[in-house]
Amino acid sequence: MWLTLLYSCTGGAALLYALYRWVIPAAVQYHGGLALLWHDIIVERMLDTLTQSTRPQRLLGAVQKNATRGDPRSVVKAIDEFCRHKEWAMNVGDEKGCILDSVVSELNPATVLELGTYCGYSTVRIASLLPPHAKLITLEFNPDYAKIACQVIAWAGLEDKVIRKLQRNIYKMIHGTQNLTFLCV
Ligand SMILES: C[S@@+](CC[C@H](N)C(=O)[O-])C[C@H]1O[C@@H](n2cnc3c(N)ncnc32)[C@H](O)[C@@H]1O
Repeated sequence: MWLTLLYSCTGGAALLYALYRWVIPAAVQYHGGLALLWHDIIVERMLDTLTQSTRPQRLLGAVQKNATRGDPRSVVKAIDEFCRHKEWAMNVGDEKGCILDSVVSELNPATVLELGTYCGYSTVRIASLLPPHAKLITLEFNPDYAKIACQVIAWAGLEDKVIRKLQRNIYKMIHGTQNLTFLCV
């Protein structure tokens, strides 16, 4: 009887490991909906419960642990590493981030409006490339995300370049922003 129980437990554990290690990552790779379900609902809720923290708080923790204060590139790198090795998060990410960098560098904008700050990843990428005196206005309607973004932006040393607005009315912002040279969604 003990042997049967041991076999069942080992078999169950092996099955769960195979699911977690190979089957789920493969499924998630090929289907956007499954990816969202897995990363954004199942894993996030599980980790929130286990760690009694939120994903943005864990992301901020990774920044504070691994990035150098006042060094925006190290903040971007710390978030990329967090998302690559620890948890998926809805940042623009490294690949699209490089495209964003080249557009910002090419346009050299004086005023940028960003719609959706989340934890401030793309905000840091954009703001760190802006010419002196240029400003980035970033909108976020979720106060919890906005609070974390504020700390990420401060850690990168970019508070003076970024104007944060806790607001959802993008039309009002677009019409109210003078000389908008670049809009990032
Ligand atoms: C994909 S995330 C942005 C990621 C971010 N740009 C980055 O790369 O780090 C989208 C964000 O937009 C915010 N959002 C969605 N609709 C919004 C609205 N109408 N006004 C303000 N924020 C909004 C969400 O709360 C979420 O944080």
